[in-house]
Amino acid sequence: MNPSWPIDHVAIVVGDLDAAIALYTSALGFRQVYRETLAEQGVEAIGVQAGESVIELLRPLDASSPIARYRGDAPSKLHHVAFRVNNIEATLADLKAKGIRLIDEEPRSGAHRNRIAFLHPKSTGGVLIELCEPAI
Ligand code: CO
Repeated sequence: MNPSWPIDHVAIVVGDLDAAIALYTSALGFRQVYRETLAEQGVEAIGVQAGESVIELLRPLDASSPIARYRGDAPSKLHHVAFRVNNIEATLADLKAKGIRLIDEEPRSGAHRNRIAFLHPKSTGGVLIELCEPAI
């Protein structure tokens, strides 16, 4: 497997989406490149371009969902890091063979029809890692 996966996006769960968008665009100067609702993940996602990567601001659709509870009382909290891979099935099989626990045994649909899968944080030092194969 390719050891130099680029960072596709870094996702941050936020409590106040409008304030977060204003911070990342108006104040910090990033350009918003998408806004979409990901019903399957229970979030609204806003992407701002940061070089070759994206910062993704996540607003939980349901205030009692696990991702909302994960944020807790923090104004915002780093949620996951996503690496871009070329062949997500082969990558998952390789990682599984190495003993990495997978949340998703099969890829599912992510933002803009990317195919994504999460690794289990118990296998990755407590950091939630997403693998992401962009739709072409
Ligand atoms: Co993600």
